[in-house]
Amino acid sequence: MMFKSFIAVLAAASAVVAGPVTRATLDVWDPKITNPTAGQVWAIGNKQLVAWDLNSIPSSEYNKTGMLLLGYIANDSENLDIKHPLATGFSIGDGNVTVTVPEVQERDNYVVALLGDSGNISPQFSIITAPVPSTLSDSDQ
Ligand SMILES: *[C@@H]1O[C@H](CO)[C@@H](O)[C@H](O)[C@H]1NC(C)=O
Ligand SMILES: *[C@@H]1O[C@H](CO)[C@@H](O)[C@H](O)[C@H]1NC(C)=O
Ligand SMILES: *[C@@H]1O[C@H](CO)[C@@H](O)[C@H](O)[C@H]1NC(C)=O
Repeated sequence: MMFKSFIAVLAAASAVVAGPVTRATLDVWDPKITNPTAGQVWAIGNKQLVAWDLNSIPSSEYNKTGMLLLGYIANDSENLDIKHPLATGFSIGDGNVTVTVPEVQERDNYVVALLGDSGNISPQFSIITAPVPSTLSDSDQ
């Protein structure tokens, strides 16, 4: 699967940067993404919270920098958009990060992937074009 091989590449890359890596530092942890939940709907341009369960991650990982990618499930792949991360430079120990929903095609099979030393993906959710707020009249614009 594309996602697994991407993780392997990341692990290999960080091994190169960090020098010898002990087996323990590569122990797999499985950050459980608690938001978005399955079937949630995000509108383009809105801010959305992505949160993960810190109990599923060893505290030794909390200071590590995470990266959040958007992808969608199709053809047995997560199709992660590596070139346009939703968020970078946050700490895994933050437990959440707020993102702005990018201008992407509408789909009902989006996922987010939280990457640190390992990674995990969320349940599938939707992104839609933001509905025009009904309270906004032409004169307001
Ligand atoms: C994380 O970093 C802070 C300050 O940078 C330090 O006090 C703390 O001990 C670190 N925690 C871990 C688990 O490494
Ligand atoms: C899935 O694979 C088929 C055949 O290779 C291709 O035509 C289609 O565009 C792919 N769909 C997505 C969403 O990548
Ligand atoms: C997000 O994380 C911060 C700490 O980094 C915490 O104070 C806050 O309660 C969290 N918010 C949610 C909605 O989980």
